[in-house]
Amino acid sequence: MKEQLEKMAARARDEIQAVDSEAALQNVKTAFLGKKGEMTAIMKGMGKLSAEERPVIGALANTVKEGLEVALKDRFDQLRQQALQHRLASEKVDMTLPGRTMFKGGKHPITLVMEELVDIFSSLGFGVSEGPEIEEDFYNFEALNIPKDHPARDMQDTFYIGDDVVLRTHTSPVQIRTMLQHAPPVRVIAPGTVYRRDSDLTHSPMFHQIEGFLVDKKVTFGDLKGVLTAFVEQFFGSGTGVRFRPSFFPFTEPSAEVDIACVICGGKGCRVCSHTGWLEILGSGMIDPEVFKAVKYDTEKFSGFAFGMGLERIAMLKYGVNDLRLFFENDLRFLSQF
Ligand code: DAH
Repeated sequence: MKEQLEKMAARARDEIQAVDSEAALQNVKTAFLGKKGEMTAIMKGMGKLSAEERPVIGALANTVKEGLEVALKDRFDQLRQQALQHRLASEKVDMTLPGRTMFKGGKHPITLVMEELVDIFSSLGFGVSEGPEIEEDFYNFEALNIPKDHPARDMQDTFYIGDDVVLRTHTSPVQIRTMLQHAPPVRVIAPGTVYRRDSDLTHSPMFHQIEGFLVDKKVTFGDLKGVLTAFVEQFFGSGTGVRFRPSFFPFTEPSAEVDIACVICGGKGCRVCSHTGWLEILGSGMIDPEVFKAVKYDTEKFSGFAFGMGLERIAMLKYGVNDLRLFFENDLRFLSQF
């Protein structure tokens, strides 16, 4: 039996070293030391031993068993350690790998222009006002001295929602709404979306305008020129040429359109400015007394000026964009350049 035990122990040690996983080692443990294992099978022969042999073999069996248990435990530890090392190596994060850059959204160029305009006019003391895009005929036309059936209505191709309700064709109705709510002095700009039945290379049925107006005692055309020249200098750069050209709008008298020296040729004349050297950027004028009558302002005491401009047009000139439709197509290749 002694020999049997020693041989078994030697084989067990070999197998313990040979396995390469904890599960396989568990099987070895069961095969040798389990209830139905080799050790138990050998120990069944104890009964046949003599009284002197029995304690000797018993002691040897204990030593062998303890020895194997220690060997098993060491090997378990070893394998667990190996498995851990393996996992650490295979799951290692390579910190030197360049990261994936996140796509960063940005503001639409029209929004950028609108914000810049609001900043500039705020610095000149103007507050911001807004009005509805679905507007009553009264605010969009009537109170702005554009009576029903008057030829002046032809200046703007209108989307009618009902007999007296339209999609506002300009931001000028905000003048009326503001003046009806506030007594002078007022100094306000009104940015917003406007609509016209127009669609081609240079016209979109939906576009943006910013309106501005100022009413106080003794406001003159000189004030209008001063404010708009300051705006042009800040927005297009100091030294940009400006000219005021007589024009007509029903709600201003006198009226003027403002041109800036062509941003492409600097005034020499090119295709963009139709060889005039000038680009029109806005309409303006002294608020017509008829408008003051509609909002019940005292025309003897107060005077004021107003102006309005298209943001798409301003943005095209500022950024050198030659196709209006780019602003509405939402092509990221275009938008991400701003
Ligand atoms: N509302 C005009 C338009 O849409 C622009 C305009 C011209 C506004 C002269 C004004 C102004 O306030 O004084 O064409």
